[in-house]
Amino acid sequence: MTSASTARRPLRKAVLPVAGFGTRVLPATKAIPKELLPVFDKPAIQYVVDEALAAGIEHIIFVTGRGKGAIEDYFDRAYELEDSLKQKNKTSLLNELAAGLRPAGTMSFVRQQAALGLGHAVWCARDIIGDEPFAVMLPDMIMMAQPSCLAQMAAAYEQVGGNIIAVEPTDTPEQYGVIDPESRDGRLLKMKGMVEKPKREAAPSNLFISGRYILQPEIFGLLADQGPGAGNEIQLTDSMARLMKVQPFHALEYEGTTYDCGDKLGYLRAFAAHALAHGELGGKAADTLRATLEKK
Ligand code: UTP
Repeated sequence: MTSASTARRPLRKAVLPVAGFGTRVLPATKAIPKELLPVFDKPAIQYVVDEALAAGIEHIIFVTGRGKGAIEDYFDRAYELEDSLKQKNKTSLLNELAAGLRPAGTMSFVRQQAALGLGHAVWCARDIIGDEPFAVMLPDMIMMAQPSCLAQMAAAYEQVGGNIIAVEPTDTPEQYGVIDPESRDGRLLKMKGMVEKPKREAAPSNLFISGRYILQPEIFGLLADQGPGAGNEIQLTDSMARLMKVQPFHALEYEGTTYDCGDKLGYLRAFAAHALAHGELGGKAADTLRATLEKK
């Protein structure tokens, strides 16, 4: 295995695993992929794709599963809809749809036949990634940041290479995976380990792993023989811990806020925050929310 710090390969591809069942937000996700639930006026996944593109990502690989076909449709052309909008002269909506389309060949969909865990989902993208570094973006985590979270990570990657994960301070480290830092240089921390859901008093830091990773392709060799870990799932963090023994890992305390749409209250928070931040409707959204709270 070669050291990734010596040769810095460009970051062009991102993997978005979308094959999970979203059980924490059932029944909403019984027939609709969690990733398509609207966060105010856009599906959650659109925010993550926008973040990837803002970081210069050229190719997005979705790891999908049964029941997730609507995601593929969402990123495709909708001829009947376009035709109907054309006939009704709804030009701005038509333009919006056209602007959201990616050039043909810049999105791939690969199937994870059984939801065996995040590590397994990432491994399913190995042939499309090939021998280059790549980003992993968990689409139920939406980052509000300027520049985008992945763009900040890409800049850090330019600086130090290797593997980079985004982190954010939390008051409840016991609920998350947190990093064990070795040293700190501004917002960049050299890592020596990670701990999953530590006891609060034993947590090595208050920095939780927030769902964005830049990884070297050597992770695939480790994922290939990774046995099940926590929850009997093939965990990405278990292979990352093994890779950390031979390659550098940095954590970036990115500037911005993470919204976890994976559970009901997190989703509510994400929805409200994005409504309030909306350029055109933010003010009215604030009035609506205030009035709703006052009525309670
Ligand atoms: P989560 O554990 O947050 O998503 O995985 P989940 O499994 O859909 O949710 P719950 O726990 O049942 O409520 C993080 C991301 O990894 C994907 C999920 O789709 C989610 O976007 N994932 C997870 C896969 O693609 N495959 C898996 O086997 C597991």
